[in-house]
Amino acid sequence: MLTMEYVSLGKTGLKISIIGLGAWQFGGDAWGPYEYQVAKTVISKAVEVGINFIDTAAVYGRGRSEEFVGRAIKELGIRDQVIIATKVPGDWHRYDDVIKAAHRSKERLGIDAIDLLQLHWPAAWLNTPVCETMRAMEKLVNDGVVRYIGVSNYLPPLLDYARKCLSKTDIVSTQNRYSIVEREVEKEILPYVQREGLTLIAWSPLAKGVVTGKYSFENRPRNDLRAGDPLFMDDNFREISSKLVPVIKEVASKYGKTPAQVALNWLIMHPNVVPIPGARNAEQVEENAGAAGWRMSEEDFLKLTKASDSLRISYVNF
Ligand SMILES: NC(=O)c1ccc[n+]([C@@H]2O[C@H](COP(=O)([O-])OP(=O)(O)OC[C@H]3O[C@@H](n4cnc5c(N)ncnc54)[C@H](OP(=O)(O)O)[C@@H]3O)[C@@H](O)[C@H]2O)c1
Repeated sequence: MLTMEYVSLGKTGLKISIIGLGAWQFGGDAWGPYEYQVAKTVISKAVEVGINFIDTAAVYGRGRSEEFVGRAIKELGIRDQVIIATKVPGDWHRYDDVIKAAHRSKERLGIDAIDLLQLHWPAAWLNTPVCETMRAMEKLVNDGVVRYIGVSNYLPPLLDYARKCLSKTDIVSTQNRYSIVEREVEKEILPYVQREGLTLIAWSPLAKGVVTGKYSFENRPRNDLRAGDPLFMDDNFREISSKLVPVIKEVASKYGKTPAQVALNWLIMHPNVVPIPGARNAEQVEENAGAAGWRMSEEDFLKLTKASDSLRISYVNF
């Protein structure tokens, strides 16, 4: 039986499932073609197994993922059962652009208000002042277009600075890369969110599928963004599949769980962390939901952490 767990989004009291659903795949670009009917089945299954937190973004398929999410929740009649998070890309962080982008996302989603609007990444190349962006985010909250605000891919100094720009509202979450393979977030971000009571939404929590153990050296995904992803490069892939995946499989068989469930369970052993695995199909959503409702022992957690510590991953690819 599946037993989903719910946690507060930051300090808001809004209850989100401890395992969410990432909707990047629905965009139909980076992850390969994706049909609307599949997205609808995935969302329907997600709600059935207790997942109520769906993460999308304006840039996923240039609005297509948001449209699929909106259309599915409308057709399924489940608006009141889901919490929708979307994102404004870093290139649109000027005041007027943030407002325009939020309204466009809201329209594509076809919802009364965006539950969580996140800044997808800092305005790295455009030099937009952080406080200008935050003023727009605050206005959207004041106007009821957005309920809560968050950031993504911000490090604590910038996140802290962004929070200082706000007067009536606060940032409730930060969304960052985090899996049992990629753990940079533990250095600064995780301690910060735990201290400040924010939610850390973990993206690519299955390391894009590499920790599920279904790929082998000879059989790596070649038809989507993973063909160029550092985790699937020879040396990194060899490291992960020889040093970590066997330990994940061992722990999985001990608990009668799957490797994906163990990798996600390891993440939710960390307070304030909510992974949002992406899904190709309804079976994967159901499986991922089964990462909640139980916990591995401290001993197994440490065993997995130790195996992860031994990985030597490099992002230098030429
Ligand atoms: N804020 C950001 O900058 C940012 C960046 C990246 C992602 N995200 C968000 O995070 C979400 C998740 O990240 P992600 O999609 O990059 O990576 P992920 O969740 O680590 O991996 C997703 C992929 O893993 C495979 N998979 C999923 N569940 C599985 C299961 N139970 N068993 C076996 N394989 C399974 C599927 O691919 P195959 O079946 O084809 O192997 C799926 O497409 C995205 O949808 C998006 O919402 C945000």
